[in-house]
Amino acid sequence: MAEDTLIATDTLTVRDNRTGDEVEIPIVDGTIHATELKKLGLMSYDPAFLNTASTRSSITYIDGDAGILRYRGYPIEQLAEQASFLETVWLLFEGELPTQAELDAWQDEVRMHTYVHTNVEQFLDGFRHDAHPMGMLLGATAALSTFYPDAKEIGDEESRRLQKLRLVAKFPTIAAWVFRHSRGLPYVFPRNDLDYIGNFVNMTFEIGGQHEPNPVLQRALEILLILHADHEQNASTNAVRGVGSTQVDPFSAVSAGIAALYGPLHGGANEQVLRMLDEIGDVKNVPAFIEGVKNHERLLMGFGHRVYKNYDPRAKLIKRVADDVFAQTGIDPKLEIALELERIALEDDYFIERKLYPNVDFYSGIIYRAMGYPTDYFTVLFALGRLPGWLAQWEEMLSDSEQKIARPRQVYTGYDERDFVPREKR
Ligand code: CMC
Repeated sequence: MAEDTLIATDTLTVRDNRTGDEVEIPIVDGTIHATELKKLGLMSYDPAFLNTASTRSSITYIDGDAGILRYRGYPIEQLAEQASFLETVWLLFEGELPTQAELDAWQDEVRMHTYVHTNVEQFLDGFRHDAHPMGMLLGATAALSTFYPDAKEIGDEESRRLQKLRLVAKFPTIAAWVFRHSRGLPYVFPRNDLDYIGNFVNMTFEIGGQHEPNPVLQRALEILLILHADHEQNASTNAVRGVGSTQVDPFSAVSAGIAALYGPLHGGANEQVLRMLDEIGDVKNVPAFIEGVKNHERLLMGFGHRVYKNYDPRAKLIKRVADDVFAQTGIDPKLEIALELERIALEDDYFIERKLYPNVDFYSGIIYRAMGYPTDYFTVLFALGRLPGWLAQWEEMLSDSEQKIARPRQVYTGYDERDFVPREKR
């Protein structure tokens, strides 16, 4: 139990009306400790964690009703406007913005770790030509743990720092190689003269030793990665923390996060949004599509959020990024359909009553496509952005004395004891 729990002055009295027994539970930070209910022989039941805090965290603050998102206290709007991605990664890891000297040293360190073992090439070659990029990213990240057995030393602070550095540095290389594999193109190696984003873009798009960088598109990609960098206890972060709580190495824990992100209700939604827009095909089909959503025939992908019951602040920023990107690439006709979907949805009672607004995935896919990334690659870009959040949360979990192996309880609803029936009598 946290120290401040002991000095709590606010309390909740719970009375068991079956027995008359009462327990007085301290209220700390608007929460009560579920284990206090044990005193009454009770458990709390909360499938999908609708009202359960699994941790205390000082990394990311979200006010879902007000549409606020901050990393380490800094508003997402200011970070998106002024920070670089690696600066944001440092902020998430260290808790403070880096000084110029710290940032320089950090960028150099990352640059020194961008290469992956040459066997990773052969490993990726083993995937089918049409393997889904997220499946490849997931497999390759898990495989990295076998290249770094020292990553098992999760109790060693310096080892943890090194593994986080390795992951941040090598993830773009693997992500870019996954892209090359899908296209049947040879892998491009990291270049020390390029920055983090420039290197990634070069490794994905270089052909014949040439790639003409577009600074506007690179900055747009950097902003998107910053917007995705952390989002407190989302499904994939919860997976990283849960798997990491077994004390497995961080490569394995992060691959669990990638698996969770892959799902269409989480990071996979950006891919589904584009498939949905393709299916709608034309603005004139939007009203009929919305009717289908309201009849619960399907979901409006890229809408709704467990925590945001207001416009997702990231979606607002992404719309601005879209303007910059489309000024370079020309407008994607799918944008017109997306804008019409948003317009109708925001005026419709079904969406208003349920507080359903566009989330981060609604517009990001259209931007990624304009940048030249194929639809099934979008979630890899989300993963690239979310990696530092996973790692910061993994570190926080390991240093939290209240955390143990994550192991929920259950309410058993199956048979009572019964005797085995021999096969011939069934
Ligand atoms: N389209 C239509 N109806 C929806 C949608 C949607 N996108 N989202 C929620 N609803 C309805 C839902 O059917 C339910 O209606 P009713 O009360 O009549 O049963 C009500 O709104 C409450 O929804 P919920 O499913 O209880 O909400 P949740 O917190 O469990 O789910 C969500 C959150 C994000 C999984 C869900 O909104 C959803 O499936 N959205 C579409 C997928 C998506 O865009 N995911 C990306 C999330 S943001 C980025 C990320 O995390 O990766």
